[in-house]
Amino acid sequence: MKTILDILTDKFSTAFEKAGYAAEYGRCVVSNRPDLCEFQCNGAMAAAKAYKKAPIKIAQEVVELLPNDQSFKSVEAIAPGFINVILSERILNSYLNEMAISKKSGFEPKSTDKTAVIDYGGANVAKPLHVGHLRPAIIGESVKRLLAFDGYKTIGDAHLGDWGTPIGLIFTEMQVRNPSLVFFDENYTGEYPAECPVTLKELEEIYPYASAKSKEDEEYRARARQAVFELQSGRRGYRALWERIMDISKADLKKNYGSLNVSFELWYGESDADPYIVPMIEDMKKQGIARISEGALVVDVKEESDNKEMPPCMLLKSDGAVGYDSTDLATIVQRMKDFSPNKIIYVVDKRQGLHFEQVFRAVRKAGIVGDDTELIFLGNGTMNGKDGKPFKTRDGGVLRLEALVQDVRDHVAEKMADRDLSDEEKNEIARKVGLAALKYGDLSNAATKDYIFDIDKFTSFEGNTGPYILYTMVRIKSILEKYSQVTGSDTKEVLSKAATGAYKLTVLDGNDSEKKLKLQIAMFSEAMAQAVAEIAPHKVCSFLFELSNTFNSFYHENKIVAEENEDKRNGFIALICLTLKLLETGIDLLAIEAPEKM
Ligand code: ARG
Repeated sequence: MKTILDILTDKFSTAFEKAGYAAEYGRCVVSNRPDLCEFQCNGAMAAAKAYKKAPIKIAQEVVELLPNDQSFKSVEAIAPGFINVILSERILNSYLNEMAISKKSGFEPKSTDKTAVIDYGGANVAKPLHVGHLRPAIIGESVKRLLAFDGYKTIGDAHLGDWGTPIGLIFTEMQVRNPSLVFFDENYTGEYPAECPVTLKELEEIYPYASAKSKEDEEYRARARQAVFELQSGRRGYRALWERIMDISKADLKKNYGSLNVSFELWYGESDADPYIVPMIEDMKKQGIARISEGALVVDVKEESDNKEMPPCMLLKSDGAVGYDSTDLATIVQRMKDFSPNKIIYVVDKRQGLHFEQVFRAVRKAGIVGDDTELIFLGNGTMNGKDGKPFKTRDGGVLRLEALVQDVRDHVAEKMADRDLSDEEKNEIARKVGLAALKYGDLSNAATKDYIFDIDKFTSFEGNTGPYILYTMVRIKSILEKYSQVTGSDTKEVLSKAATGAYKLTVLDGNDSEKKLKLQIAMFSEAMAQAVAEIAPHKVCSFLFELSNTFNSFYHENKIVAEENEDKRNGFIALICLTLKLLETGIDLLAIEAPEKM
């Protein structure tokens, strides 16, 4: 299905052509004066310059030549040369009737032959997820779903931090505490125990302890670096221990991401890029783009036009170990080989912008990535507390993600306390609504912006919040339930009948609130296309919020089930089924789930 703007643009383009002007002037846009009209075409203003004619003249000619097909309630040429458009109910009805029975409600995927890899995990193993991981996870999952909606084959990669300093620190501290552990015995040649010698809980204590100690103790730090080097060089016991830690850590991460309704197609880590590093470096040497600098091997990525610091990309540190730069470079080698993606998108804290700029430049320079692949850094802003600083626990510590999710859930549960529902129902509602509050509060902000975590605002059932959207959906379901009772049917049946076009919009004298709802629904494809093009989940949120608002005004101003005129009532049912479908599609793009009741 064409978007409503494309349909209008076609009509205007034809009219411009008929009048002797180029078709491209027929581009229509949503009105920026909704008090005057719904859409407008400003092409006559531009055409006036090219054809040296008064814009109002051109506008008048075009209006005369528009098809007489009852699409418009009014079309007016307005000085100095705008054309203002108000659509007829007829064209909206037929557009919406078609949407109701169309796949994806009429949205046309444009990228069915494309592949995108999305890197949005970045959790470090052996450390619990904390609030810093929230935004990449939530935004990344939504970006993935949005691109899939547009037809992309999407591959989400967790890209776990499993290969660097943290592991070295953990090994070092474990060895201090338990030097006789067989994993540390260099002369041991037997099988290693299958059990991980530490629990997750212990790891969670060991890592911060070791990290703090390494900051004060030079010798300790050197040992940790050495451990990383030996792990990467394949020391048997270290590999085995690393595998045990990975097992328990990955299982826990899967559970945690899962509880956020965030999933990955690939659970790769930095370590998976390791086999690609040596050949990549050899190749760069051959090309003459790698050079030695203070004992380290680097690639220069500075360009003449740079007016900021642009340090070289580090291939090998002076001690021969590989670091964050080389794993990211080699990961791109791997992704190109496995998927030859059209896009690789990184949803990572925006403070890592420089790192990714270096990496992107280096892979282009080395010919690892060609012109057919876009590399996109979607740097996310920070979730701040009310003090405007990065969100912390009350005592200033880093808040675990689990605790944050639980807090929001409890907050919602409190609001539900006096509802007449079973405990089980209440728990399930609190879980879904809590997550929706958290995710929507995040996603409704542009990814790159910082925002303030405000639990009262996020969990409110009113305003631009997740719970408000869900509440609107629940309201529609309850109207449909009432309607089904009256008609001796059930909600599911009504919805599936609506999807086959059993209820039609035919009536032409709807009130203002009905017209506004129809217009908002008709903008669905346009809004989603924009969200896809800009990789912007917050645009999905804006659409859902507007749709909920227009629906709720419609609901307050019309009797739906009690409407006596049958054609009118059928139209209302069509309208609210379509509204519900778009809301469902929209929240799914945000990876938000709706409860049945609220
Ligand atoms: N593990 C990294 C960190 O904690 C984030 C990884 C992001 N993704 C990437 N491909 N570098 O900072």
